[in-house]
Amino acid sequence: MTETADHPDAYPPSAEFAAAANVDAGIYERAAQDREAFWAEQADCLHWHERWNQVLDWTDAPVAKWFVGGRLNVAYNCVDRHVLEGRGDKVALHWEGEPGDSRTITYSDLLAEVSRAANYLTELGLTAGDRVAIYMPMIPETIVAMLACARLGLPHSLVFAGFSPTALRQRIDDAEARLVITVDGQWRRGTPAPLKEAVDEALLAKGDVPSSVEHVLVVRRVGTEVEWTEGRDLWWHETVAQADPVHEAQAFDAEHPLFILYTSGTTGKPKGILHTSGGYLTQTSYTHRVVFDHKPETDVYWCTADVGWVTGHSYIVYGPLANGATQVLYEGTPNFPDEHRHWQTIEKYGVTIYYTAPTLVRTFMKWGRQIPDAHDLSSIRVLGSVGEPINPEAWRWYRDVIGSGTAPIVDTWWQTETGAIMISPLPGITATKPGAAMTPVPGVSAAVVDEEGKTVRRGETEANGYLVLDQPWPSMLRGIWGDMERYRATYWDRFADQGWYFAGDGAKLDVNGDLWVLGRVDDVMNVSGHRISTAEVESALVGHSGVAEAAVVGASDETTGQGIVAFVILTAEATDTGATMVDELKAEVAREISPIARPREIHVVPELPKTRSGKIMRRLLRDVAEGRELGDTSTLVDPQVFESIRAGRTD
Ligand code: PRX
Repeated sequence: MTETADHPDAYPPSAEFAAAANVDAGIYERAAQDREAFWAEQADCLHWHERWNQVLDWTDAPVAKWFVGGRLNVAYNCVDRHVLEGRGDKVALHWEGEPGDSRTITYSDLLAEVSRAANYLTELGLTAGDRVAIYMPMIPETIVAMLACARLGLPHSLVFAGFSPTALRQRIDDAEARLVITVDGQWRRGTPAPLKEAVDEALLAKGDVPSSVEHVLVVRRVGTEVEWTEGRDLWWHETVAQADPVHEAQAFDAEHPLFILYTSGTTGKPKGILHTSGGYLTQTSYTHRVVFDHKPETDVYWCTADVGWVTGHSYIVYGPLANGATQVLYEGTPNFPDEHRHWQTIEKYGVTIYYTAPTLVRTFMKWGRQIPDAHDLSSIRVLGSVGEPINPEAWRWYRDVIGSGTAPIVDTWWQTETGAIMISPLPGITATKPGAAMTPVPGVSAAVVDEEGKTVRRGETEANGYLVLDQPWPSMLRGIWGDMERYRATYWDRFADQGWYFAGDGAKLDVNGDLWVLGRVDDVMNVSGHRISTAEVESALVGHSGVAEAAVVGASDETTGQGIVAFVILTAEATDTGATMVDELKAEVAREISPIARPREIHVVPELPKTRSGKIMRRLLRDVAEGRELGDTSTLVDPQVFESIRAGRTD
């Protein structure tokens, strides 16, 4: 630890790291002087079939247009360009299968695969603008499928392979997908989990209404038998794999939709976050280059996120591939066959940049440092964190044990909506502080404000503020699929007078003006870095015939950040009121949404605390769930309600 005059616990980069870094401190100044020129410079790192004539058009705010008039092909930028520039033999993916199989895929291989897939999707009759749902695990074909869609201008919608058939169907319907790409099954701790079967279930006609899906393209991964619908289902190895490996990429408008990715909001209905092409690729590749100090010639990069979440989109697929990275892609869980798997993988491939979530760091801490200590992790030079605030204890452990006490940690704050990293240290410049995301990256502007939109004072610890983004940025969402009104209401109404984007997070500024993100201030929970809305879980619970009413809160959890705690009132028909019922309800939520949404605790209670207007006071339930003194109960209809809730908790 280095003491600095400003902060007693700040970690500046070593002189050696700073000297070799991709950018120097002057970048902040340059970006601030002329933001648009700065972003144009970043966009110039990409290949444009036609250059833009205007950097930013904000006249239709809050829907931005970046690089107006520009035309590019995202897949060409991620693949073809590297091959054409003589780097075809460079490894793009070191893929590590869960059972121990592995594949090495060069940029030339990737180009052939993506071209085959693009040719076959064209043969299926898909044309630019058609949507494709991708429900797949961490295998190379998932990336090939995404890039083939990008190449043809088909917006993809990845649905995390842990989601239920119900959740998958909801997303397919909302985007009206014509094609689903999936696998027979995925490996999960040595056992094949059926995915094709889940797709079959999702696509069953709802009454008389068939789904919008015309074909299901299936990659064989685990080799189990699957049901087959003739005419609809197609094997990847019989179609894509046989197609022509040459395909010429066409250019699309910079604002052509690239993907839709559903995320939880404050209501039960997930929001289809829409991202477009030029601005998104500019900011993902720029941030990947500067935040991780990525050097394509020497680095081996590993982002452990699932490709089904935004981190996988931006920092496994688009950002790194646009930068010609060599990366590790791992299919399985970190403890299969044992807890050494990640460290063995780092040793095997000589990983230099490792990007993961705080919840996993805390899990590694629980398993004990003797596990990583048994491996040579000296190749690691940059560590990244994403998804939730990282607690200082986990931060220090991460740096000491995984980063040999020297690797800079970049704590990157961003969201599905922002598309790319917004607030983060730069590893060759920033003196990092354990737990702080620090400052917006050059080119990005953010503020921490109070209820009225006034900037909070530095070092103010009592009144924490709201995090807002006060300038448009290239990778910003362009809307919510099919619901632009909700887009405005969710992100832009809160500070409409100022025209700021409200992130939904609380934050504070320390005495140096560095930013600390404190977590969500709305009804969105963050469980192991996964965003889940209280309303979604409540609606799954009340879907059970035994439940009359449900209220769900996120309570702090040592490992997962937050854990889901539900309070339910049972119906008169509920015959069982004890442990069996609680187990059944937990299973119901896992089935309806996903195992990641399974409540940690469910308490059967006789009543819920409500205000006179009938709103459930979640804040008070959070106090109960975390065993705290109750906050202000004066607005409750019946303050006595807590006696019975507390009694209910001991059930
Ligand atoms: O609350 C913030 C938290 O994750 C939310 C965004 O979730 P999602 O859209 O699923 O994207 C996760 C990966 C980018 C944010 O509103 N969050 C994300 N990164 C951080 C964070 N909270 C604190 N520090 C972070 N570094």
